[in-house]
Amino acid sequence: MKGIILAGGLATRLRPLTWVTNKHLLPIYNKPMIYYPLQALVDAGVKEILLTSSPDHAGHFVNLLKSGEDFGITLSYAYQKNPKGGIADAILLGEEFAKNERIVVILGDNIFHFDLKESINQFEKKEKGAVVFGVKMDTQSKQYGVIEMDDADKVLSIEEKPEHPKSDIAQTGIYMYDERVFSFIKNLSPSARGELEVTDLNNFYLKEGTLGCEIIDWWIDAGTSYDELLRANNLVAEKVKNGELS
Ligand code: G1P
Repeated sequence: MKGIILAGGLATRLRPLTWVTNKHLLPIYNKPMIYYPLQALVDAGVKEILLTSSPDHAGHFVNLLKSGEDFGITLSYAYQKNPKGGIADAILLGEEFAKNERIVVILGDNIFHFDLKESINQFEKKEKGAVVFGVKMDTQSKQYGVIEMDDADKVLSIEEKPEHPKSDIAQTGIYMYDERVFSFIKNLSPSARGELEVTDLNNFYLKEGTLGCEIIDWWIDAGTSYDELLRANNLVAEKVKNGELS
């Protein structure tokens, strides 16, 4: 299983913080944001990781993370020419890197602390499919993908930023895919916002009946707004001080 971290995009929602710095390098209390998805993969035992970024400040990641040896992993880099291509478009950059292995993908601005090792073990035993990770939100949210599940934890639908959310479970930016993911992405068409949507990709697996979903306890997409960035900083500070995080 190989890992892909997506750290591209323009981060317009966080300007002016992101004019001269990539969003994923902004601080979350005592570490750069990108450390969180990276550490999650490292803790799960993923040894080969690809980081995708876009024209803005790509070189800064190499300065910070180098070859990955400080983390005990091998880090590769890919460059997304079109920063507005969308999540699925960025995943496609990993086709050669994956070399027919399964992948776990994490968005570079996702702050969470969840042991992915067991999820990866279970996924590797499955004949085929994909897994999304959801989180229960306090209020139904129109700013994320929304996952509807039945009582047996079967995924019934995933909708991207729906006007009328069918549940309070948000789709996080953590995904696991089988070897067929790249051919599925090549069959996607851009959405109304001009992106290849990860939700459309996940719906391929949902239709096939091979999509699983796991619920994690806490998660913040620190890139959505100043308030979520601040919330991530405050929550991580609290968890570092009470010893839950280092
Ligand atoms: C993307 C996905 C969305 C998901 C979110 C998680 O949204 O499209 O389904 O809930 O990441 O961070 P975006 O950040 O591209 O608006």
